[in-house]
Amino acid sequence: MTSDPTISSLSALAQALSSRPLCTLFQDDPRRMDRLGIDCPGLYADLSKQKVDARVLGELCAFAERQGLTGFFKAMSEGEPVNASEGRPALHMALRAAGKNAARDAMTSLADRLRAGAVTGVTGRAIHTLVHIGIGGSDLGPRLLAAALHRYRHPGITLRFAANLDAADINDALSGCDPEATMIVVVSKSFRTSETLANARVARAWLVQHLGEAAPARQMMAISSNLEATRAFGIDDAHVLAMPEGAGGRYSLWSAVGVSVMAALRGGAFDELLAGAAAMDAHVLDTPLSRNAPLLSGLIQFWNRNFLDMRARAVVPYGARLALLPHYLQQLIMESNGKTVRSDGQPAAFAASQVIFGAEGTNAQHAFFQQLHQGPDMVPVDFIGFVEDQEHNPAQHTGVLANMLAQARALMTGRQQAQIEAQLRQSGLDEDAIAVLAPQKAMPGGRPSTTLLMKALSPFSLGALIAFYEHETVAQAVLCGINPFDQWGVELGKSVALKVQARLQEGSTRGMDASTAALIRKIVNVS
Ligand code: F6P
Repeated sequence: MTSDPTISSLSALAQALSSRPLCTLFQDDPRRMDRLGIDCPGLYADLSKQKVDARVLGELCAFAERQGLTGFFKAMSEGEPVNASEGRPALHMALRAAGKNAARDAMTSLADRLRAGAVTGVTGRAIHTLVHIGIGGSDLGPRLLAAALHRYRHPGITLRFAANLDAADINDALSGCDPEATMIVVVSKSFRTSETLANARVARAWLVQHLGEAAPARQMMAISSNLEATRAFGIDDAHVLAMPEGAGGRYSLWSAVGVSVMAALRGGAFDELLAGAAAMDAHVLDTPLSRNAPLLSGLIQFWNRNFLDMRARAVVPYGARLALLPHYLQQLIMESNGKTVRSDGQPAAFAASQVIFGAEGTNAQHAFFQQLHQGPDMVPVDFIGFVEDQEHNPAQHTGVLANMLAQARALMTGRQQAQIEAQLRQSGLDEDAIAVLAPQKAMPGGRPSTTLLMKALSPFSLGALIAFYEHETVAQAVLCGINPFDQWGVELGKSVALKVQARLQEGSTRGMDASTAALIRKIVNVS
């Protein structure tokens, strides 16, 4: 731990709070909801069920100021090179800012022409299917938007995705597509990602097989910042939408990476998404720390991880259409902050990330909630819901929201053993059986959560929600002094995969450790 004066007082506060039931924090502080229930653009953030009190919040805010949190966000919004290891700015806020923007005009014009049936394939047929090929940040965001904004789909465009190196993914994406009416959209910032290039080659071969050699030039396009590589792949510059170097993969859905989903949504929907994110940006830049919802949430997760030892965090969106949100947030949070070395090369004194997992409610309740309620580890939960019923089934939607609120409340309050004993006694159980059963049924409670409530699952709210998580993630990185915009940790596995693939192809175990060698032998039957 560092010698910052707040650290020892935060440690002492954590100890004092650990023995206090979460519910009592509400009784002790009549202003708790004023402090921790925050209306911000697109959503209401209820942070009141987190295990913090006014003193903890004060210390956290003071620490954040000393770590330069506000200044970092200002610098980021002004395009300073905040991604130090790569010497680049982080342009996600600039990408969604209102105003004249040539790149966005190019996207909008293409999306408009696609929706109008004005983009034609090699045989003259209008394109009506887009196959979006990309992985990681070049896939998860657009895929999330397409699923979440299902209600805003444009009827004339079908959008499919392929990411996985397992050929099942691209085979499924192409299956049933009409080759004459299909555009392959290859999305890769680096245009060096092996999965994406492999799937793009399959798609190109599929076009050639059905329509001849001339088809790929007309029916393949790329989104990339590496024009040399797109040219080498055979994609003409006229069929490339450029993305700036400063649009980092997991922060890039606001750039041309979003063009396929922009085309697949009704006109204007993508602009509303950008407007929602930009409104959250304005909130982050203009609101004092104590009422700044994403930054405060970042401070609280920093507190959870480093002072309350909560190493995992569950994300549970209540809505089938948000099922991909946990996947998206896994990359955003863990690829950004899963690091232990600061940007100045020194070991980080604090951890900036938790292990993120999740699934959509109510399904998740029947999977991992048992562990959340009674498991040995304290796992904070993010509950995410929207008020408006989109499915013309208000009763069921009320049930969804009731479940969400109920789970957050049950995690907080728990159920006392004495209460259970009384119930069991009333039901006629004998004392020996009660002594065995009651402790198993008791719920400790005191388990923290955040609830993010949107009015509707609209493009505006979704943009605000995603921006909320981006800012919360970056805030934690700044508190820990790490760079949330690079990802050196994924490089080693990529280069080892190339070596292992060569061994599998040549049927040899040369240079491999005993364990990997044994597995190679199982696969290729080498002696
Ligand atoms: O997994 C590493 C990574 O570089 C991610 O950061 C990125 O989102 C993904 O691969 C895809 O990269 P690209 O868009 O360059 O293909």
